[in-house]
Amino acid sequence: TITNSTNIFWQECQIGKPDRQKLLNQKGCVVWITGLSGSGKSTLACSLGRELHTRGKLSYVLDGDNLRHGLNKDLGFKPEDRTENIRRTGEVAKLFADAGLICVASLISPYRRDRDACRAMLPDANFIEVFMNMPLQLCEARDPKGLYKLARSGKIKGFTGIDDPYEPPLNCEIEIKQENGVCPTPTAMAGQVVSYLENKGFLR
Ligand code: PPS
Repeated sequence: TITNSTNIFWQECQIGKPDRQKLLNQKGCVVWITGLSGSGKSTLACSLGRELHTRGKLSYVLDGDNLRHGLNKDLGFKPEDRTENIRRTGEVAKLFADAGLICVASLISPYRRDRDACRAMLPDANFIEVFMNMPLQLCEARDPKGLYKLARSGKIKGFTGIDDPYEPPLNCEIEIKQENGVCPTPTAMAGQVVSYLENKGFLR
């Protein structure tokens, strides 16, 4: 990344991440959900947010589609735009984790090196990559926004999975997939992530 700022200094305050974590009784981290459009990223993110809230844990969902209405509204879907989209979101997620929150980022994030760059921004254990491993066929059959149809007919160019690549993670912490051809329910998916967070001590 290009740095254009010079003569800048890092400021420390008296109250730091450990103080905030103590206040909230949880450990800040980033749960990064990656997968094709229609693979259930947002469904998992919302279900997870609800489950954590019920348990009295503070989380915040960063949804790719939503961020593109504001922070990332200047970005399209060219490779360099997607890379910048992921970089910015990674930086914001890092701030939320530093605030002590369980930050749930839900973006296609199709390029492995971009996700790895976000991982590298945080202490390794604090970046939890969740791969929605759903077959393209299934995502396309769901087509919740009718975008696959538009992509197939050539009305959208560069659509992930159709004429733009998706690089699955090689070493994700959590994989969500079908069992005997059946998709897990939103509650079951969230449960899988919550169990992981519990076991790793993020929920205290
Ligand atoms: S990325 O690749 O991570 O930068 O994408 P993201 O910010 O998650 O945004 C994905 C949503 O944008 C819509 N959309 C497209 N997706 C993929 N490829 C192309 N060309 C495209 N154009 C629009 C689509 O609604 C995605 O939402 P989800 O929730 O993934 O279905």
